[in-house]
Amino acid sequence: MAPTAVVSEVYTTSNGCPVLNPRASKRVGTDGPLLLEDFHLIDLLAHFDRERIPERVVHAKGAGAYGTFEVTDDISDLTCANFLGEVGKKTKTFTRFSTVGGERASPDSARDPRGFATKLYTEEGLLDWVFNNTPVFFIRDPSKFPLFIHTQKRDPQTNLKDATMFWDYLSTNQESIHQVMTLFSDRGTPYGYRFMHGFSGHAFKFVKADGAFVYVQIHLLSDQGIKNFENDEAIKVAGENPDFATKDLFDAIEKHEYPSWTAYVQTMTPEQAEKFKYSIFDLTKIWPHHEFPLRRFGKLTLNKNPDNYFAEVEQVAFSPSHLVPGIEASADPVLQSRLFSYNDTHRHRLGVNYLQIPVNCPLKAWNPFERDGGMRVDGNYGKFPNYQSSFAPMRYKRGWFTSEHEQWVGKALDFSHEVTEADYEQARGMWHLLGKTPGQQENFVYNVASHLSAANRQVQEQTFHMFSRVDSRLGDRIRDRTTKMPKKHK
Ligand code: HEM
Repeated sequence: MAPTAVVSEVYTTSNGCPVLNPRASKRVGTDGPLLLEDFHLIDLLAHFDRERIPERVVHAKGAGAYGTFEVTDDISDLTCANFLGEVGKKTKTFTRFSTVGGERASPDSARDPRGFATKLYTEEGLLDWVFNNTPVFFIRDPSKFPLFIHTQKRDPQTNLKDATMFWDYLSTNQESIHQVMTLFSDRGTPYGYRFMHGFSGHAFKFVKADGAFVYVQIHLLSDQGIKNFENDEAIKVAGENPDFATKDLFDAIEKHEYPSWTAYVQTMTPEQAEKFKYSIFDLTKIWPHHEFPLRRFGKLTLNKNPDNYFAEVEQVAFSPSHLVPGIEASADPVLQSRLFSYNDTHRHRLGVNYLQIPVNCPLKAWNPFERDGGMRVDGNYGKFPNYQSSFAPMRYKRGWFTSEHEQWVGKALDFSHEVTEADYEQARGMWHLLGKTPGQQENFVYNVASHLSAANRQVQEQTFHMFSRVDSRLGDRIRDRTTKMPKKHK
């Protein structure tokens, strides 16, 4: 962007003192050492030294924009969520798209799932939809998340990406297979953020005022359609323009070509959930559309670029625990762990008062029991009591619902869910689906082979075996293609 700002302010030091010559450091004579009294220089350097904050531990590379969520269809029979209460009602949003495994400057076109996180600034609080562009995920036991992510990032010794550990993890934790089928199809390399869908993945609950609820999955389907790079194109673009998707999104919005997504919901009653073939708390499975049809309820449109990348895109902090009345988390253990993890990482990455950063501020909040802490800048509730005082009684919302349907009783057990034949069924469905579009199965085989060829022989064998459980010929096809790739393994 060409700089267009008209500056009427006089340049000062950070404490507001006018600076006579901003480009000169103070020194003794013409060649002597610098003077410590040169506050302008010292302060400038000290601030520069602290410009970087920790990058997100995952999803570090991203791009974002403001927008609007508009209700298009009445779903008040499903939820009492206020922002969904009326057709035509609009809610301000901020969306951040991301890749997962790469660092903050890594290429946008990498083979990776994409994050699709949207903050809705509703009148009853922030609602964060922290979605991915795939309807399933790699794990169903959250204790695997850190080690799984380690294998998709860098080797602790070489600091290199490592195909052996990448496939070693996946071939020995085969509940990932459905997600692997998606990742190594051409959907693993979307053309840009505008051309992909977003999915809640987890079951959430839509709750009514009387406490009755249905389980839901939310889908944001791209109105631009799906467009992907093929494997070699994605690699080429990564070299030529690592910021391809960031630029594509920014340019489209500047040209007023506002990208949009139509929002749908799938619903399942608790009774249906009990009879469903898979656990609805298993994030590696989808709910078949023919059994649980999509119901349209809204549209998300992105229509304003941020003014400042760091302030808005880098500092935005999403959390699946940011929910509003009428929408609740389900008992999915991965979701339950995420309810903890995001706010925890924000406190580390941005500080305890991260919700005061303008992009993260709810429209209104009143919580005088949370006080003080680093970088408190909002007045800190002034003199209002910091406890439940009888001199300053607080107002509470009455009539809060409780759910009659959900009552949990059981022994504390180690959560363990062995991989069974059922885990390959939807992956197999995905393989057959690829077969309906000419060239897609061939691309899948090539995409796997070109990555797997860098792994060691043992891990390759484990991986061929895994794919033959999806389809008896698929393992051999991948073996055949992998052995024809230029030798890359160690
Ligand atoms: C980012 C943890 C699974 C979607 C993150 C971050 C953490 C994290 C720590 C960095 C947040 C930040 O620094 O701002 C976890 C854990 C998971 C998990 C512990 C499982 C146990 C998932 C799943 C999805 C998902 C299943 C999607 C359905 C995202 C997205 C972001 C993200 C979209 C980027 C948010 C942004 O743009 O700032 N995750 N995650 N994660 N995660 Fe997860």
